[in-house]
Amino acid sequence: MTQPATNTLIQALPKTELHLHIEGTLEPEMLFALAERNSVKLPYASVEAVRAAYSFSDLQSFLDLYYAGASVLITEQDFFELTWAYCERAHADNIVHTEIFFDPQTHTARGIAFITVLNGITRALAQAKERFGLTSKLILCFLRHLSEEDGFATLAEAEPYLDRIDGVGLDSSELGHPPEKFQRLFARCAELGLPAVAHAGEEGPADYIWQALDLLQARRIDHGVRCTEDAALVKRLARDRVPLTVCPLSNLKLCVVKDMRDHNLRELLAAGLCAMVNSDDPAYFGGYLNTNLIACRDALGLTAAEVVQLAKNSFEASWLSAAEKQRYAAEIDRIALA
Ligand code: HPA
Ligand code: ZN
Repeated sequence: MTQPATNTLIQALPKTELHLHIEGTLEPEMLFALAERNSVKLPYASVEAVRAAYSFSDLQSFLDLYYAGASVLITEQDFFELTWAYCERAHADNIVHTEIFFDPQTHTARGIAFITVLNGITRALAQAKERFGLTSKLILCFLRHLSEEDGFATLAEAEPYLDRIDGVGLDSSELGHPPEKFQRLFARCAELGLPAVAHAGEEGPADYIWQALDLLQARRIDHGVRCTEDAALVKRLARDRVPLTVCPLSNLKLCVVKDMRDHNLRELLAAGLCAMVNSDDPAYFGGYLNTNLIACRDALGLTAAEVVQLAKNSFEASWLSAAEKQRYAAEIDRIALA
């Protein structure tokens, strides 16, 4: 297939997105607008200066700006507008289902009520379902640089609203904060019926992926790209079809890979893993889902068959029902054969 033909295919395929931090969709223009509306002082003179500051050397250098940026989000309407802007972008990329992360501790630590955050996000998701037919799930992420006790306090705040929360995740600074630190918290989440995912093997070693699987019962691994350092782990992930929510532009911008041509996405697919592509924090990393897929196609020479496999994997890895997965798999086959 020619390049324009794969571009058309990337656009035409229905896809899910399963690794998206809603706070990471805060575009510089909205950052400025909300800062003004809420009288929050920013250390930047212009949108261009913000973009120029988005040059990262590792995960922590990004997280420092990401948490600082989130300080402009104050009201329910702010969270609504943030989430709605993402839904519009997702719809434009032909994402038909999205499972998004939010970081309540980033907001409650600043005195923003949990319910303010939740109401703003879920109101936008409901509107996206109505306007675009975009379905969604919401995953509460615990910040791993904070204590397990802090995580328990956040879970207590979330408990009255568990009918609006579909699962839990683990994000923030990976190195030095292994999954085992949160074993009791995730056991409690499991008792409450909340399925788990966890960031692991982004900057952290393959051992953190084992821990996420065996100690947290993670059903998906977010990133997980360092699994290829451990052949036994790759076998386990392939055997159980444990999905990896890979984020190529994120990996490039956070120097997990030096060059996109070094990314192991094709290797993961060739090993029979349920890898799929996501945008992670698209406002910070230079693009939404289709831009990630095109960057991989350009740098790695992804074939049309691999692009189709990634779209199929994105549904297999989701928490949609078996019937919905089947319906989308058939639609993908129809488009791929057209
Ligand atoms: N890794 C860990 N924490 C995060 C990320 C990430 O890529 N994005 C937002 N929080
Ligand atoms: Zn992430």
